This record gives sequence, structure tokens and C-alpha cells, in this order.
Amino acid sequence: MKFIHLPALLIILFGAALEPTCAAEKSYALIPAPVSATWQTGNFTFSATTKILVSPLNNETRLSADLLAQLVKNPSGNAPAISEGKKPADGSVMMILDNSINNDEGYTLEVTSKEITVKAKTAVGLFYAVQTIRQLLPTEVENSTLIPGLVLTVPACTIADEPRFIYRGMHLDVGRHLFPVASIKRYIDMLALHKMNTFHWHLTEDQGWRIEIKKYPKLTEIGAYRKETVAGSQKKANNTYDGKPYGGFYTQAEVRDIVAYASSKFITVLPEIEMPGHAVAALASYPELSCTGGPFEVRKLWGVDEDVFCAGNEQTFAFLQDVLTEVMDLFPSKYIHIGGDECPKKRWEKCPKCQQRIKDQGLKNELELQSYFIRRIEKFVSSKGRNIIGWDEILEGGLAPGATVMSWRGEEGGIEAAKSGHDVIMTPGKYTYFCYYQCEDRTNQPIALGGYVPLELTYSYDPLPKELSALEQKHILGLEGCLWTEQIQTPELLEYMSYPRTFAIAETGWSPANLKNFDSFVKRITEMHKRYDAIGVKYYTGEYRDTKALKEKK
Ligand code: ACM
Ligand code: ZN
Repeated sequence: MKFIHLPALLIILFGAALEPTCAAEKSYALIPAPVSATWQTGNFTFSATTKILVSPLNNETRLSADLLAQLVKNPSGNAPAISEGKKPADGSVMMILDNSINNDEGYTLEVTSKEITVKAKTAVGLFYAVQTIRQLLPTEVENSTLIPGLVLTVPACTIADEPRFIYRGMHLDVGRHLFPVASIKRYIDMLALHKMNTFHWHLTEDQGWRIEIKKYPKLTEIGAYRKETVAGSQKKANNTYDGKPYGGFYTQAEVRDIVAYASSKFITVLPEIEMPGHAVAALASYPELSCTGGPFEVRKLWGVDEDVFCAGNEQTFAFLQDVLTEVMDLFPSKYIHIGGDECPKKRWEKCPKCQQRIKDQGLKNELELQSYFIRRIEKFVSSKGRNIIGWDEILEGGLAPGATVMSWRGEEGGIEAAKSGHDVIMTPGKYTYFCYYQCEDRTNQPIALGGYVPLELTYSYDPLPKELSALEQKHILGLEGCLWTEQIQTPELLEYMSYPRTFAIAETGWSPANLKNFDSFVKRITEMHKRYDAIGVKYYTGEYRDTKALKEKK
């Protein structure tokens, strides 16, 4: 054995004890990191007589009590009894709605060896407190195997917590590939575990229309199925196809089930219906809504199609209003996403109806025609008491009043929108697109859409651009990670590409900027692997650092 310096050896042996923060991070892997946490000695122990007392006990607050009771019951077989109760009692968990907590989603958590006390302004805060308790409990709570003799404890601590941003989302494209309802629910579960609050469900695409619309049955009879799909990585020319029909859709009953499930986890489902572009599946079903009249087939290649909804045809607007009416009936969300991205203007340039519309409306060009299209839809959606969100192309030709912008081509669109007083959600692809590779060496990686978005790069992103004043920054509602599924065919791959990058979005959306620390995050993610294993979700475990940036720095 080589000579080891004695103080260094002592630090190696007792390092954890000398550094309480590191020890806490290692033992208590909380993601997202809470605003403040102090750790005391001792534990609260769940016993066969532990009760959960809730004040007040109602349908909303019961959700958090039920979740905690279920987690405890899983490995121990003992479900704590839930009842209304005003005063903390020894050996019990007390959940209280308390108006003195500032933030609607915030909470405080006090754990002593005698009791656990949770306070929150709303039921949402109670739910997030339970997610924190969950992450402090042993990972055995994550599955229903009874483990005789297992002692369920929560370390004594004082936590005060609230989110940095009100919008913390994940997107999922089901147009290119769709996933079973059970897989979507698991996706929602993972968002809830990490205190995210929005599931952005991208439901219509060139390659498939995925939501049942009662008034237009052909959307799912025809538009939900493509004859075959381009094989492997798409090339510029000479592509081959897999020869396999592909398709499917979500019935309205399934949509209602998913919306209700998400709501029970305090997650809003944001539906996206694409217009005026990415509409080929709709046009294959109803070709009269196009500029040329078709015929069309549901797109088999990825990329952007030149055929889009005709902006000069009144039928297009009647159709979209009918569709949106059914969508608004299914989704109670404040926002409805209307797409707006990647709409080529080639067909509109040649279409007599579109050109007539430009003339009648005194528009300058096709960019203003796109703006006319979005403004008209915005007016309809806002007449129903909702607000639209669109990708940053909706800035072209003038932004519709009341529109919120998702800035995906970079931050520029978001900056422009915020400066003009519009709300913004940041989704710059360079940091937040999880369809890209997560490591430099692609030899053992599933085919992705190109690109390179390692965990460290996603984690490094801060959604508040320096170019904005403090007042303008208030328009940045938060951020979202995006999962485009051209190359994601299975639920397993969906999870592998999403996790842990999704959790970097969760931490950026929740934790104070000055607490963010990538080394600490990686430690906590590594600790969380056990929990993810217990849940049974797949996740990427390779290189987490941005090795390309590291090399460039040298
Ligand atoms: C997008 O990635 N086309 C929003
Ligand atoms: Zn047209």
C-alpha cells in the first residue's frame, strides 16, 4: 500500500460526517432541490397505528392523504387511517391548509420523531409535500411487494419550499408514434414525482391524427393510419419504407380518463391541435380543407409538408372551430395549444382563395395571412374563455392579442414576445429537445433525430434571458422539455430518452437558480436510480456531462 497522508485518510473515512450537506444529499436525494432544508437527528417512524389527519378533509386534500397512505401500505401492509383533524397528534401525520403560506404551490414540512406536519396554502402544496415525503421514504414504497420487518422512517427535518416558475412542463408527440394509455399515465406519474405541473399532449400531425372527434369521424378512420413509415434515419432522397401499416388514436373516453388521472396528480393536460401546418392527416381525411383539393395520404416521411390548411376557405375555420369546441369540452385547461409552427406558404401563394383572402383583408403577404389565421382562431378560443399558446412562428406577421408563445427555435421569439407584453414558455431545442442524442458516442445508442443534448446542457439552461428587464422577465412563465417521437417507437424508448433529462427541467422549473449545482444533481439522480428501478421505469445511465463542451474548453 502506498503512503496515505493521515489527515486525507481521516477526511476519506469521516468525510460524510464532516460535510452534513453532502451527507444529506446522498441520503436524501430530493429532486427538485427544495428552497430550504435543515436536517435534524432522529426519524419519524410509521407504525400500524399511524393516522393521517387532514384539515380540512375534502376531495382535493384527500388526494394527498390517499397517496401517502398508499405509499406506506405498499411494503408494510398498513394503510394509515385518514380522518379530518385539527390538531397534530403523536405518531401521526397532520396536513393543514394554511393561508399564511405565500405561494399557491408552496408548502412547509416539519418532521420530528413524534409527528409529521405539513402546511400548504392549497391542496397542490400538500401534494408536493407528499412527493417530498415520498422521496425521503425508502424506495420500497414504490411497489406493492410486502416486506416483513421493513421499518418505514422519514428523517427529522424542516423544509420550506415553493416553485421558481408557475409552468413546469413536458411535451409528448403522439402523432409520429403513439403510446398506450398506461404508458401515458406513467409519464404523468414521473412528472408528479418531480413536482411538474403540465403535460403538453401533441395530438395531431402530418403522420397521424390521434384524438377522436365525434363530428368528423374520418379524422380517425382515415387520418389516424399511415400505410407505412420511412425506415431508419430519413435521408434527403432514396428512402426505404418499412412496409407496415401504422396507426391508432385515443377515444374521447380515454382522453377523459387521462385528463382525470392527471388532474388527480395536480397536472394540467395541455392539448395541441396543429394548424395551419402539420395538417396532412386531417387533409387526407377531409381534402376539401386544402388549397389544391388533394388527394392526400397520411404522411410516411418525417419533416415538413407543403400541404397545409387553406386559409382562404371558410370551411377550414368552421372545421377547426368544431374540432376546438370538442377539444375544449374534453380539456379543462386554461390554455389550448394551436401549433402554428413550420407552415410553408407555397400552396397559399398559388391558391386563388388564399390570394382573395389576402386582398379582402388588406394583408401584405402570406406571413400576414398566417397571422390572420392565428388571430381568427385566437378570437374564437378566447370567446370561450380560454387562451391560446403557439410555437414562436406565430410571431410572424404579427402576434395575436392574448397569445402565449412557446419559444423553440431559440430564445429570440420568447424575448420578442416578452418585450411586447406576451407571456412565454421557454423550450429552446438546443437545451430542451429530448429527441436528440444524450451522449457524443452514438455507437450503442438508439437512432435519434441527430443533435446533442446531454443532461448537463439541459441542466445548464436558465429560462430568464439577460436581455429582458426584471419586469419583462415576469412574462416568462417557465419551461418545458419536448419529446418528438419520429425515432421513438416504444414506451421503453420513450422513457430512455426522457429520463433523467426531464428531471433537469423539473429542477430548473422549481429550485432557486442559486441552488442549482450539476454535481449535486448528478449525485441525487444516481441515488434516485434505485427509486426509478423500484417504479420500473427505464432511464439513461451513460455519460451525463457535456463532453463536447469540456473538450472545446481545453
Ligand atoms: C417544433 O419543433 N416544430 C415546434
Ligand atoms: Zn388556400
